[in-house]
Amino acid sequence: MTDQLEQATDQKPRRAAPWEYAPAPEAKDIVTIRPRYGLFIGGRFVEPRSGRYFETVSPSTEQRLAQVAEAGKEDVDAAVKAARQAWEERWRNLPGRERAKYLYRIARALQDRSREFAVLESMDGGKPIKESRDVDLPLAAAHFFYYAGWADKLDYAFPGRVARPLGVAGQVIPWNFPLLMAAWKLAPALACGNTAVLKPAETTPLTALLLAQVIQEVDLPPGVVNIVTGAGETGAALVAHPGVDKVAFTGSTEVGKVIRRVVAGTGKRLTLELGGKAANIVFDDAPLDQAVEGVVNGIYFNQGHVCCAGSRLFVQESVFELLLEKLKERLQTLRVGDPLDKNTDVGAINSREQLEKIEELVGSGIEEGAEIYQPECVLPERGFWFRPTLFTGVSQSHRIAREEIFGPVLSILTFRTPDEALEKANNTPYGLSAGVWTEKGSRILWMTQRLRAGVVWANTFNRFDPSSPFGGYKESGFGREGGLHGLEPYLDFDRANGRRR
Ligand code: NAI
Ligand code: MG
Repeated sequence: MTDQLEQATDQKPRRAAPWEYAPAPEAKDIVTIRPRYGLFIGGRFVEPRSGRYFETVSPSTEQRLAQVAEAGKEDVDAAVKAARQAWEERWRNLPGRERAKYLYRIARALQDRSREFAVLESMDGGKPIKESRDVDLPLAAAHFFYYAGWADKLDYAFPGRVARPLGVAGQVIPWNFPLLMAAWKLAPALACGNTAVLKPAETTPLTALLLAQVIQEVDLPPGVVNIVTGAGETGAALVAHPGVDKVAFTGSTEVGKVIRRVVAGTGKRLTLELGGKAANIVFDDAPLDQAVEGVVNGIYFNQGHVCCAGSRLFVQESVFELLLEKLKERLQTLRVGDPLDKNTDVGAINSREQLEKIEELVGSGIEEGAEIYQPECVLPERGFWFRPTLFTGVSQSHRIAREEIFGPVLSILTFRTPDEALEKANNTPYGLSAGVWTEKGSRILWMTQRLRAGVVWANTFNRFDPSSPFGGYKESGFGREGGLHGLEPYLDFDRANGRRR
C-alpha cells in the first residue's frame, strides 16, 4: 500500500487526454419525427379533447423536436375507458400463451428497430447513443421477452394459488430511461392480463409514441395499451381516476408521497419507485482500477440521471489518496458532448430545470465548505450541460451528501472500519441501491446483509437484468419491478375478477 501511495504522490493528475477523437455522429435520418403527435387511445392516435399541445425539445441543441398532445381530464377518462373495455371484452379472456405472442412481437419489433429507437431516445432525452443503443434498447426488448415467458406460466410462478389480473393499470414514468421505464411498466402488466394507460414524462415523450406505433403494427388489440402525454396534471388525473385498479409510479419522492395520499383508501394497488442516494463503498483490498471504472459508471453514466446512481462514494482511508488520484485522472478522459456521437460518455442534462437543480445543489456544496473538482472540458454552446464533478471534504450533514442531485456529481467521504462504512452508508432516508468493492467474499455477504438497500452490487455497479427484482426501502419506495417479484403487483390472488365493481 505504501508503495502505491508513493507512486500516487509522484504522479501529477494528467491534463486532458493527449489525443482527440474525430467526431463519429450517428445518422439521424433513420428517425422520422412527426411535427405533431396526438394521444394513443383505443389503438389510434387521436386529437386531444383538451385542445392543448406542448413542445418537446432536444436538450443537447434546445431545438424543438415536435408538438405533443397534453391530455386533460376528459382525455385521461377516455383512455381509462378504452383500457377497461379492452380488458373486459378481450384481454382478460385471452389465454396466457396468446398474450405472450403479442409481447414477443413487441420485443422483436424493438430489436428490429433498435437503432431508430436509440437515436430518437438520445435526441429527445440527451443521453449518449452508446447508452441508448447498448443499455436502454437491449434491456427494453429483454423485458418484453422475459415477461412474455411468464404470461402462460403464472400457475407455475405461484403454485397452489390462482393468479388473476387486476384490471386497468395507470402507470406514470420519468425521463431518465424513457423507453426502458415504459417496458418495465407495460411488460409485466400485460403478461399478467391487465391493460394499461401509460403517461410518459413531459420532456421525453417521443420513444413512448414510437412504441405506440409498434403496438399498432403488431396488432395488439386496441385499448390494451393507451398512451397519454402531458405533465404533472395529466399524471395526477390518471392516478386519481376511479377506473384505475393499480398505480405504478417511478419518479421523485415528493410526487410519490402525493400519489400515496391520493391512492390511500381507494383500494387501488400501488407501487412506488422513488429517489436514491446510493453508497458505493470501496475497501482497501478492492481492485482499484476496476473500482474506479465502477464508480465512474455509477455516477457519470446517463449524466447521473439514475435513481440508483452511486452518488456517495465511501473510501477506506488507507486508499483514499490513491483512489482520488485515479478518479481525477479518469474524469479528465470522459468525453462530454453531442449525445449522438458514438464517442460520447456524458451527454446533455435532460432539461433546464434539472440543470438548475444540479447547479443549486453544487453551489450549496461549495458554500458548505466541500472542495470541488471538475475536469477541463469544452462544453457545447447551446443545450444543457454540466461537467462531471466530484467533491472531497464532504461531511455527512452537507446537502450534497444527503439530497438526491440526479446529476453527474459525486460526493466522496472516507471510513476506517466496515462498521463505520455501514453506519454512514445507511445514514440516509433513501434505500434503493448500494455497491461494495472488496476482494473478500465474506465481507460482501456481511455488508449486503446489513445495507438497507433494495439492490446491492458487488464489484460492479448499475447492472440490470429483467430477471432480477429492483426496488427500494424507506423513502425510495416499495414494491419490486423485474423478475418473479415484478409479477405480483399486477395480480390478485384472493378475489374474483373485477373485484371492485
Ligand atoms: P417528477 O416526479 O415530477 O416526475 C416524474 C413523473 O411524474 C413525470 O411523468 C411527471 O409528469 C409525473 N408527475 C408529476 N407530478 C405528478 C403528480 N402530482 N401526479 C402524478 N404524476 C405526476 O420528477 P421531476 O420533477 O421530473 O424531477 C425532479 C426530481 O425527481 C429529480 O431531480 C430527481 O431527483 C427525482 N427523479 C427521480 C426519478 C427516479 O427514477 N426515481 C426519475 C425522475 C426524477
Ligand atoms: Mg425532450
